[in-house]
Amino acid sequence: MAKKGFSTILLAAGKGTRMKSPLPKVLHPVAGQPMLVRVIREIKNAGAKEVRVVLGFGQDLVKQVVEPLGVVFFQQKEQRGTGDAVRSAEPGSLDGTVLIINGDHPLVEADELKTLVSQFEQSDWDLCVVTATVKNPTGLGRIVRHNGEIKAIVEEKDASHETRKIREINSGIYLVRAEVLQEYLPKIKSQNQQGEFYLTDIISLGLQGGARVKALAASRSLAFGVNSQAELATATGAIYRRKARRLMDSGVVVIDPRAVYVEDEVKIGEGSVIYPGVTIKGATEIGRFCVIEPQAFLNQCKVGDSVQIKVGSYIEAAVVKDRAQVGPYAHLRPETEIGEEAKVGNFVELKKVNFGDRAKASHLTYLGDAEIGADTNIGCGTITCNYAVDRKKYKTVIGKDVFVGSDTQFIAPVTIGDGAVIASGSTITKDVPARALAVARGRQMTKENYKPKSSTASAKPSGLGKEK
Ligand code: UD1
Ligand code: MG
Repeated sequence: MAKKGFSTILLAAGKGTRMKSPLPKVLHPVAGQPMLVRVIREIKNAGAKEVRVVLGFGQDLVKQVVEPLGVVFFQQKEQRGTGDAVRSAEPGSLDGTVLIINGDHPLVEADELKTLVSQFEQSDWDLCVVTATVKNPTGLGRIVRHNGEIKAIVEEKDASHETRKIREINSGIYLVRAEVLQEYLPKIKSQNQQGEFYLTDIISLGLQGGARVKALAASRSLAFGVNSQAELATATGAIYRRKARRLMDSGVVVIDPRAVYVEDEVKIGEGSVIYPGVTIKGATEIGRFCVIEPQAFLNQCKVGDSVQIKVGSYIEAAVVKDRAQVGPYAHLRPETEIGEEAKVGNFVELKKVNFGDRAKASHLTYLGDAEIGADTNIGCGTITCNYAVDRKKYKTVIGKDVFVGSDTQFIAPVTIGDGAVIASGSTITKDVPARALAVARGRQMTKENYKPKSSTASAKPSGLGKEK
């Protein structure tokens, strides 16, 4: 039995000259994902049984990016137009419904594609072009109708002044029965302004040959093709706004949906608040009732419930547990785990740290390759010196309920027992047992009457720095 679903020919061989970029157009990221990856994912979710991707410019790079998605590649040796691109996908071996779609349409959505395919399959149409009516049709193929029925698609470069006024455009998406495609595709010629084989010509050729041809109206977003950097930015903005709307629909408070940059995969629980300027990337998960303040950046993180991420914090591949507070301006680096109700304050950087429940590092601190026990207080200006002259990293282990005075350095490897007290300004080089006090700093020397009574602020004291 034949596999269920439709076949797809996805056109992605063009260079995208108007992008003025060395990267193939279809690899430009839109809200964190290459355009082509988005299109393939949506086509598959819509029920495609086979996706044939036509590659040309930069094909090795494109292949590398989309190979894991389970698609078949065809090469278009020379970019001689969209009609020629479809020919390169060997449509002779296809049967059933064929969806042809440009690779530069990052706003396509599976649901809408699915609806279009089922409309097509329930009809007696042979060939369908999906259209949209747009405010500014510049650069796009125009849908020419006569008595309401489609007659042809005319490319802007070949269009008369009158035709250019038409605002119904070709989306670059077509549905066609395989045998109809096989009949009319070879008839496309390259007699036009650009000397290219336009796939769009299949409409008038089909009509001349007696095929049942239809123009099927769809949304403007489906029809939105990216040809320039400005259009790429428009598409990116649209994807972020779409995500913000979905978050709001699920109960997330988004202060300004035009100014948050949350990627598709991100999950956020209800009642959480997202302030403007926040970027959340990858497979980040955020729980309920969190507050993510302006300019926070989170990538691949797991954040519990009721967590507060304050202004300007940068958090990557880290875990922050329930009711913890991070920032403002904190930097959590990979393999860091912040315990429940813990507090990481301003200008604190943590890397590969297991930071215990209710532990605190409130100001100006670097902790790397460390374990910090529950209820421990790390004073301002503490540093774990984890990187040694042998270029290896060493660990600092600090127990529970330890008090670390300000301006302390731990020369790793070093272990501090539970309940120990480290005096401010210490440079700790040796292990400290539980409940002990460690002081490791120069003793204070005080020299009385050092400055003559009569001296003014500008007078130089004698012998400064020469005391023994
Ligand atoms: C095309 C349509 C236009 C439509 C618009 C919608 C044609 C002739 N024009 O114009 O009617 O309104 O899309 O976005 O079809 N490609 C190849 N090989 C080639 C040329 C292009 O694979 O030789 C691929 C490109 O990589 C791209 C897609 O086909 O993904 C469309 O090409 P593009 O140059 O962007 O066509 P448009 O000028 O946008
Ligand atoms: Mg295009």
